[in-house]
Amino acid sequence: MELSEERFNEIKEAVRLHLEGHEKRFTHIMGVVRMSEYLAKKYGYDPIKAKIAAVLHDYSKYDKNIELLSKEDQKECIKYPFLLHAYLSEYYAKNLFKIMDKDILNAIRNHVIGRLNMSLLEEIVFISDFTEEGRTYEDCIKCREILLNKGINEAIIYSYEATMNHIEDNNPHPLQIEVLKSYKEKIKNA
Ligand SMILES: [Fe+2]
Repeated sequence: MELSEERFNEIKEAVRLHLEGHEKRFTHIMGVVRMSEYLAKKYGYDPIKAKIAAVLHDYSKYDKNIELLSKEDQKECIKYPFLLHAYLSEYYAKNLFKIMDKDILNAIRNHVIGRLNMSLLEEIVFISDFTEEGRTYEDCIKCREILLNKGINEAIIYSYEATMNHIEDNNPHPLQIEVLKSYKEKIKNA
């Protein structure tokens, strides 16, 4: 299926309907779309692909049908419940919206805690989720300043340091520590 502005608008409408009753969530999603589009243009990535990944990233924020996932993913989500909505959103992106683009699917799947060697699109959606204009926590405002004034790598480091202090049940995923370390290496060698 062609990834066009029309396709983006169709998906956006489906997301809006799916999240009826959760208007604040939809507003957040549109903030992520705008930030992702801005960053895609700034860093040289296809803005339509960035917008499609962003608009779908929290599609399943309130879905609970864990049984749709592979056994392995189910196990991971039981241990780290904050991952469920991301894995389910990836599932619907693929199976309902017929998105086959691996970069988009990865950006949706990995938007909560990131991963090692993220693609540019994964980085864009990950950091846009934390820094979109509707985020008014002090940490998010500071991170947005870093993103706009220093760059995406510096902002990613800041967001990891900030989130690991408050992630649900204080149960940080071991990957977060590893990814943070890898970004620190990356800016040291830049
Ligand atoms: Fe989000």
